[in-house]
Amino acid sequence: MTTTPARPRSAFGAGPRAAISAKTLRTDGWRASPLSIAAILLFFIVYSTIRIFMAKWYFVQPYGYLTPLYSPCLSDSCVAGSSHFGTPFGEFPVWLPLGLAAFPIVAGFRVTCYYYRKSGYRSLWMSPQACAVQEPHKKYSGETRFPLIFMNSHRYFFYLAAAILLINIWDALHAFKGADGGFGIGLGSLIIVVNVIALAGYTASCHACRHVMGGRLKHFSKHPVRYHLWTLISKLNTRHGTFAMTSLFTVILTDAYIMAVSAGLFTDLRIFN
Ligand code: FES
Repeated sequence: MTTTPARPRSAFGAGPRAAISAKTLRTDGWRASPLSIAAILLFFIVYSTIRIFMAKWYFVQPYGYLTPLYSPCLSDSCVAGSSHFGTPFGEFPVWLPLGLAAFPIVAGFRVTCYYYRKSGYRSLWMSPQACAVQEPHKKYSGETRFPLIFMNSHRYFFYLAAAILLINIWDALHAFKGADGGFGIGLGSLIIVVNVIALAGYTASCHACRHVMGGRLKHFSKHPVRYHLWTLISKLNTRHGTFAMTSLFTVILTDAYIMAVSAGLFTDLRIFN
């Protein structure tokens, strides 16, 4: 009688792994997608870090355009008119970013986002790398240990990011100012509104938001409002990746436009007043 040689158990203990020495037999470009998303996220982090330390060109005073990277601006060091929520903090030393209140929240929200997490795990952490690809880690501990246990904070970042979104909406209302102080619309106003819509889509389609709306309910029929909201969010949730990437670029575009107008590279295209 012949016996089958023993093969190593998988990390999950679910069954034997195929006895092949190659790291993978996949020949498709399985690295391309996670690597490109990780590169874009890295670009966003580098760009916004440089910008928040610039401490200039973040506000177009005549039209009320405030870049989202400096909002809310809560210090006495902020340019006059840019503090839509007052200045509870005094002067900041030059090395302290004026957008200190929002940046850690926005960065934490993105880094712990399920969509970006997928790319980060596949391209940087390499656990799991991809289907049918051997990974370098001996054990799989998921998000139960440092540092990945930090990812479980996503739901809290969601609450904070929702508050930042309300602040961004308020900023957008201030961006409809004319040069004479009355009502006005410029290209900057429209760019800011598009950015807020993209951010709202990204925040509302968040998995944590979906859970807040309809999670842990035993009977949808007894909670018709939450069920309706959950249904709505579930539809948005299928487009979460699109919102994640779109809003990343709209934030950069909005900031770059405001920076350029504020620095005097070109003037705002005025549509009304
Ligand atoms: Fe992406 Fe919450 S899952 S923002």
